[in-house]
Amino acid sequence: MYAMPPPSVLCLLLLWTLSDIAAHERIPRNTIPYQSDLIKLFREEGGGNYSTMLLQEDRGVLLLGGREAVYALDIDDITSRKAAVSWKATEKGKKECTNKGKHAEECQNYIRVLHEMSDSRIYVCGTNAFDPACGYINYTEGQLSMGEKHEDGKGKCPFDPLQRYSSVMVGGDLYSATSNNFLGSEPVIARSSATQVRSEFKSSWLNEPSFVYMDQVPESEDSPEQDDDKVYLFFSETAVEYDFYNKLTVSRVARVCKGDMGGRRTLQKKWTSFLKARLDCPVPESRLPHVVEDVFLLRDSDWRKSVFYAVFTSQPGSVDLSAVCAYSVTEIGDVFSKGRFKTPVTVASSHVKWVMYSEDLPEPRPGACINNDARALGIECSLDLPDKTLRFVQDRPLMDQAVMPRGREPELVERGVVFTRIVVDRVKALDGNVYEAMFIGTDKGFVQKAVNYDGEMVVIEEMQLFQTPQPIQILRLSSKKGLLYAGSDVGAVQVSVGQCGRHASCLDCVLARDPYCAWDPSASHCIMLSPQDDASNGTLIQDVKNADVSTCPDPGTEDPKPTNVTLILGSNIQLKCRPDSNLAQVQWHFASRPLPASEKFYLYGEGLLIQNASATDAGLYTCVSEEEVKGRRYDRTEALYQLVPAPSPVDVTPRTDKRVQRQSLVTLQVLVALLAVLLAALLAWNVWRGHIPLPCWGGGEAPAETPAPHSPSPPPAVTPETINLMPPANCNTNNNHPSNGEGSHNLDTLKYIDDESEI
Ligand SMILES: *[C@@H]1O[C@H](CO)[C@@H](O)[C@H](O)[C@H]1NC(C)=O
Ligand SMILES: *[C@@H]1O[C@H](CO)[C@@H](O)[C@H](O)[C@H]1NC(C)=O
Ligand SMILES: *[C@@H]1O[C@H](CO)[C@@H](O)[C@H](O)[C@H]1NC(C)=O
Ligand SMILES: *[C@@H]1O[C@H](CO)[C@@H](O)[C@H](O)[C@H]1NC(C)=O
Ligand SMILES: *[C@@H]1O[C@H](CO)[C@@H](O)[C@H](O)[C@H]1NC(C)=O
Repeated sequence: MYAMPPPSVLCLLLLWTLSDIAAHERIPRNTIPYQSDLIKLFREEGGGNYSTMLLQEDRGVLLLGGREAVYALDIDDITSRKAAVSWKATEKGKKECTNKGKHAEECQNYIRVLHEMSDSRIYVCGTNAFDPACGYINYTEGQLSMGEKHEDGKGKCPFDPLQRYSSVMVGGDLYSATSNNFLGSEPVIARSSATQVRSEFKSSWLNEPSFVYMDQVPESEDSPEQDDDKVYLFFSETAVEYDFYNKLTVSRVARVCKGDMGGRRTLQKKWTSFLKARLDCPVPESRLPHVVEDVFLLRDSDWRKSVFYAVFTSQPGSVDLSAVCAYSVTEIGDVFSKGRFKTPVTVASSHVKWVMYSEDLPEPRPGACINNDARALGIECSLDLPDKTLRFVQDRPLMDQAVMPRGREPELVERGVVFTRIVVDRVKALDGNVYEAMFIGTDKGFVQKAVNYDGEMVVIEEMQLFQTPQPIQILRLSSKKGLLYAGSDVGAVQVSVGQCGRHASCLDCVLARDPYCAWDPSASHCIMLSPQDDASNGTLIQDVKNADVSTCPDPGTEDPKPTNVTLILGSNIQLKCRPDSNLAQVQWHFASRPLPASEKFYLYGEGLLIQNASATDAGLYTCVSEEEVKGRRYDRTEALYQLVPAPSPVDVTPRTDKRVQRQSLVTLQVLVALLAVLLAALLAWNVWRGHIPLPCWGGGEAPAETPAPHSPSPPPAVTPETINLMPPANCNTNNNHPSNGEGSHNLDTLKYIDDESEI
């Protein structure tokens, strides 16, 4: 622990960084709270921890791995369970596990690996009470059946269900990255095949890694050098190359060659092609490197155009930003095939420093796959590699140069959220262009959709997938079906990639800039595009790049009817107005004029609060949202309220004696002053103690400002009421208390202040 700077310094720092980053930061334009009619949820009594999925589109099933079971769900409706097979750890195994000091909860069989085999069987592995095991499952005639024989899952599947791991099946060979022992202290990257190969157990190879993602790239396809296919691995680990007073985590990309068989003497049965490089995602103002959390390979028929998308989160002590970076496969390949290496040198007796290796490299190039260069030297497979090359790789698997993202900057940066998973889709918009739509899961159970339009990153929406906040553990996408699947500890959900029906007007539909949605004027509906729709159809309206709404049919100028709200003298009245777009600014009008600046009007996230209403406050209130999209401003009436004086007997009551009134008022004022002083003292004490962080903006102006409508992590359960633009009739709050706690505090202190003039 190190001493924290005083809050005011932090504030200054934050203000400064805010202005610097603001240009890069995004917030989702729309927030879609949990709505059960948009989401299909699968959960099983007694089941849970759904973190493994295998999509089989041809068979129409989603195979889902959870705690002690595998389910086959209908790919079109995952609430329909087609089959299930339970695979429990044995009682004996559980007992041994708990005897070794593990919690009963951990000593179960968590399914962690589901891979399709060429013979349509499914390879499955589970943690099996800290004794990993693997086997085969058949899905035939609507039944799931598990083979009797299990094999040792050591090195293929983690022991510890909470440990990160990754694996990929390539031509019947399982490539896995996990820990190889009970303690989880021996990381391994292995290939389980006829010729088994694994990583060296050396900290220069893997140093307390957390494995994230593995996938193969068919780089042998039209390769002039007759290069080999490669398997890429993404992980984070403790850096060896920095002088840092603390352990510093860095992100890595590593790769091995598919044809690697290990060396003959040196690196026997070990990777001869294991190379790794730092993976950078340069988030502005972040002093510590961001940590990779998940990766998705967006494949192209030409592998050279394939792109790895990666989500990053900040590490402790750094700015609270999550980011997405994209890496071209060829740029990663260049670092490994052309870049320089790092080498350890011992300085000051025992301290090891990693510096650039500047001498000549042995031939063939260390870590290279067997290609034409090697063959020209008479080397046909990795067993023929000379010791010099092998020893180089054994000691220096780390590249000097880091892998940089496409465009040298993140695709997307957001504050106050934690990204956990990512999948990316290619979607053809009506303009004929194909765009890459990212779906990003968060630790609060939301998924965000973001699309890059020629360098302009648009975060279309965030959608709450689970009723209670919980991390998204897995995301899968069926492009063909336009469906997204997510798993968490409590359930698995299915949603459509486009929530088009939410957009009620052509304006809404077009301004959403969602490549999946278009306005159909004949049906007056925002519809989801099917792949065969195209611009030549002519009737559908969409303009994702420019958000041009000029082709929208005239909606007519039918003004919405105002909602009547009863005005009770002296009460506080809450008028709700929350525009759909988190990017819109809210303006209120009273009697068709801008709301006068007055302390009695308090603007907050959910709407407007009128304090101590008086008879002159009766009239028409209009809430207008103003949003700028692609340089054009859109003003929309979001809500209309007619404040109608109550036909109450308030005015009929006899006036109290002025002197009495004044006296009670003075007492009241003294009381309030005392309370205020007390409150201030309390606040000061709390701030001084650090219980309350200082707000960085001028606190005094707060009531006059509209708080940002978008809260980066929305409250867990958003009641439908709070998102209705036209609130129900019960908005009329006669009870003087706004639902918003913050507001009411403000009121109580403001309430009795400018009375003097009235007397
Ligand atoms: C699964 O199917 C394969 C071939 O289709 C068969 O050899 C094997 O016995 C089956 N296993 C089980 C458990 O049904
Ligand atoms: C399984 O899910 C429960 C919540 O249902 C959670 O508390 C637990 O940590 C999860 N275990 C694993 C291994 O993910
Ligand atoms: C055009 O789109 C509409 C609405 O989706 C559809 O009904 C119609 O069949 C399409 N026409 C053509 C020629 O694709
Ligand atoms: C609001 O009150 C007016 C009269 O004051 C009435 O004409 C109108 O119908 C009321 N509107 C609603 C929605 O009740
Ligand atoms: C509320 O306003 C009325 C006049 O508009 C004033 O007489 C009264 O003192 C105010 N009450 C409070 C608590 O501010």
